Amino acid sequence: MKAAGRLDSSRKAPLRVLLLGCGNVGRGLVRVLTVERDRYPGLEGLDIQIVGITTGTRGAVARESGVDLVRALSELEGGGRFSKQNPDRVELTSLEAVQELDYDALVELTPLSIANRGEPAISHIRSALERSRHVVTANKGPFAYVYRDLMNLADSRGVRLLHESTVMDGAPVLNLARHTLKGCRIQALEGILNSTTNYVLSRMEEGLSMQEAVELAQLQGYAEADPTLDLEGWDATVKICVLANAFMGADLDPSKVDRQGIEKVTAEDLREVGARGDRLKLICRAWRHEGQVSAKVAVETVPAGHPLWAVSGTGAALRITTDLMAPIVVVQDNPGVKDTVYGVVGDLITVAERKFETENDGRLK
Ligand code: HSE
Repeated sequence: MKAAGRLDSSRKAPLRVLLLGCGNVGRGLVRVLTVERDRYPGLEGLDIQIVGITTGTRGAVARESGVDLVRALSELEGGGRFSKQNPDRVELTSLEAVQELDYDALVELTPLSIANRGEPAISHIRSALERSRHVVTANKGPFAYVYRDLMNLADSRGVRLLHESTVMDGAPVLNLARHTLKGCRIQALEGILNSTTNYVLSRMEEGLSMQEAVELAQLQGYAEADPTLDLEGWDATVKICVLANAFMGADLDPSKVDRQGIEKVTAEDLREVGARGDRLKLICRAWRHEGQVSAKVAVETVPAGHPLWAVSGTGAALRITTDLMAPIVVVQDNPGVKDTVYGVVGDLITVAERKFETENDGRLK
């Protein structure tokens, strides 16, 4: 019998994965699959073979029988790029790898792009789905800009398109709504969804300047490659669009959402609000009104006693209001990069389970 919480390792070939992007999250994923593997007994039956890694500026590696991950990791963490001596090194762009290599699942971890409205990640994902490959991604852009197109394409090809870590990292908000709120209609969402700004506001309350707090967030790896995407509220806006598109049937365009960032918040503002026992937070909202779904991101005063008041540091939280239940609040207590890595690993397990189920009954692959 399968042990509770374990994957069944008795029945399979490895899940062959192509990894695009190897920044903080990609390297964290490779570490969990290799040098840190023994720390996580729950992953015992997860058999993943990475057949290619492409990056924007660090080169690419590929090997049909699986790249040497320990070497790849040590080169990225040492010299910052794949070495010319690495026997797995190849000249391949990310899109070429998606279109040409043989793999079961694409893991898309390239950075969020607002200027290019979710590209090139959208093209990577679309090309993999068109080849009937499963896709797991932490890149939120595609789901804010073309959610329905991509989901329809995945459905039409009978493959999974999973993105749990696009919002609140590995905390199960997408899975919660998808699998456990059956029959409920989601009426409204309210949350703190950007860790960097929440961390910056918390540190400013303690006396740091905004610049000092942003530098700390960058050092710890939460901030986007371009931290203005966090500070100006773009990351938060994209996340509330992803949730509204996924949960409320919306078709929002992030550039049309009423958006405010924290750039103008001063130490004086925080002191003034704090003196009354309240806090300033960057709050994301989505709601239904007259058949339409709207969203907004703004700095709001959160009164003491409100469930979002106590969310400090890199914490995030989402309050889900439905028609059938009292509001549910999911709180994430000071997550780090490892939480995003977990979201990807959890989705890969779902893909692996699905792949082997379908292989066993001889239908989809
Ligand atoms: N920059 C993002 C944040 C990373 O601060 O929340 C996680 O999506």
